[in-house]
Amino acid sequence: MNPSNVLGKLSPSITAMIRADHSHVVVTSHRYLADLSPGRKKAIVETCCRALEIHAQLEEEIFYPALREVAGANDVLDKSRPEHDEMRRLVDRLRSMEPGEASYDDTFHELIRDVMHHVADEEAVLLPEAERLLEGRLNELGAQMTKRRLQLLGPHSGEIAINTARAMPASTMLLTGAVLAGLVLVARSAVHRGAGHGALAERRHARQDRRVLRDTPRERQPDLIGI
Ligand SMILES: [Fe+2]
Ligand SMILES: [Fe+2]
Repeated sequence: MNPSNVLGKLSPSITAMIRADHSHVVVTSHRYLADLSPGRKKAIVETCCRALEIHAQLEEEIFYPALREVAGANDVLDKSRPEHDEMRRLVDRLRSMEPGEASYDDTFHELIRDVMHHVADEEAVLLPEAERLLEGRLNELGAQMTKRRLQLLGPHSGEIAINTARAMPASTMLLTGAVLAGLVLVARSAVHRGAGHGALAERRHARQDRRVLRDTPRERQPDLIGI
């Protein structure tokens, strides 16, 4: 059997992938709160923006044309591309702004409102229609989408990893910070043992590190590990 046919049969369906992409953006957007640090706001916004751009391009190149071939007249499909263009306009505007600007929060919320409206139409109309009309091709189209996704992600993979880490909840960041602080303590102890400072100096530095962690406000603790 042709290897690409095997991959096509094993791949998740294109409709499952589209739903997963929608969930990723919506769940990430729920982390955005008015009192977050500018750095975390920007990371959450950029994570959503990049995910939306790639998702929209995948739908326009693979999903919409496949559905168009079999769907006939369809108002929801007709307005999908213009709605993507409106989202791109808001993405461009957010990228030209700083998180400290007064309208930054409003612009992000406007984008997410548009996304939720668009997602509701796709999930209530287009995806069920695709599952009915494209039955038998959904996995093969899913494989095409995965292949194209990897091409689109390639140039952005480093930026996506950094923004995903920065967009994490504070509790996860604290855990990461505690692990890194532990590593710092171990490294510092090793240096002082080598330099002959002895156990007294090790304990003094350990106390200093614990005090810094304790006295730093929770929201600024990520700064301790440079995130
Ligand atoms: Fe979508
Ligand atoms: Fe879409």
